[in-house]
Amino acid sequence: MTDRLVIRRPDDWHAHFRDGAMLDAVAPHTARQFARAIVMPNLVPPVTTVAAAAAYRDRIRKAAGPGFEPLMTVYLTDGLDPDEVERGHAQGVWVAAKLYPAHATTNSAHGVTDVARIARVLERMQKIGMNLLVHGEVTDKHVDIFDREKVFIDKVLDPTIRNFPGLKIVFEHITTREAVERVKAAPANLAATITPHHLHIDRNAIFEGGVRPHLYCLPIAKRAHHREALRKAACSGDARFFLGTDTAPHAVEAKEAACGCAGIFCAPAALEAYVQVFDEEKALDRFEAFASLNGPAFYGLPVNEARVALSRAPNALSETTLAAGTRVVNFLGGRTLPWRYDGAA
Ligand code: DOR
Ligand code: ZN
Repeated sequence: MTDRLVIRRPDDWHAHFRDGAMLDAVAPHTARQFARAIVMPNLVPPVTTVAAAAAYRDRIRKAAGPGFEPLMTVYLTDGLDPDEVERGHAQGVWVAAKLYPAHATTNSAHGVTDVARIARVLERMQKIGMNLLVHGEVTDKHVDIFDREKVFIDKVLDPTIRNFPGLKIVFEHITTREAVERVKAAPANLAATITPHHLHIDRNAIFEGGVRPHLYCLPIAKRAHHREALRKAACSGDARFFLGTDTAPHAVEAKEAACGCAGIFCAPAALEAYVQVFDEEKALDRFEAFASLNGPAFYGLPVNEARVALSRAPNALSETTLAAGTRVVNFLGGRTLPWRYDGAA
């Protein structure tokens, strides 16, 4: 039995850091485990200019401390200028653009109302080799919330792939068997990230003994067989699946409310949560590919040279993290996890 794992230092290919006091509190948790993170641009107001992204990057660097590199993204809106998108990419300020369908999720009101409206931007991105990151849910309220990802594949993703066959796309935080199958069937320019929570919970967990607002995120967790498909995909070694936590902190008051926010804060024990799944699936030998190799390969970035260690050891995770004068509830908080992150190896 493997009791200690040494892997290249991983990266988080999908993280929400927020801003101000919340940023200061949460960024160190990601920086403790990851060398780099793809930073989501859904601030209020969203990050839509090179100047705003560069300033936000400075604030993240300050909050996270040395040895951590934020990889920035631009928030796509209907009216975004392709020249601005290219300029930020050419200057090395951002590495990708994020497509939020308008009103799909937290702070997406300025998102794209119809992909046809950003055709010129996508054309430019295809030309310059810049990755498109998609929140893959349709926003039609007549589509059941548990079907919105599946419908997105047919209605939005497939036409986009057909219209821009050379565009590199990351299907973010996938939650369904259909998404797994779609990625596996595509050429190598389509990849997907998978969160720790979607590997751990199915939709029953959200209603276990009562409503559990801290397990509510978007896309929402689906039926058990979808979780099984995600676990198999993550642990398969297939290079198109890689780590992206979607750590999304909200103050406890904003979650435990009549209309609670979507988002799960998993940064404090993200690697421990992931490695537990690989252990359960008897795939510890594939963990490094998922956590540290597949992401850089897809983004065309070098892998990290430093190594980190994880051990099989009881690891009591605190319920909450103090942040911005309040608390944020930790995913798996209050439990004793079977694996511990040991830091630099
Ligand atoms: O649950 C989510 N929370 N899903 C998202 O897409 C956004 C995120 C957030 O920003 O809180
Ligand atoms: Zn997200």
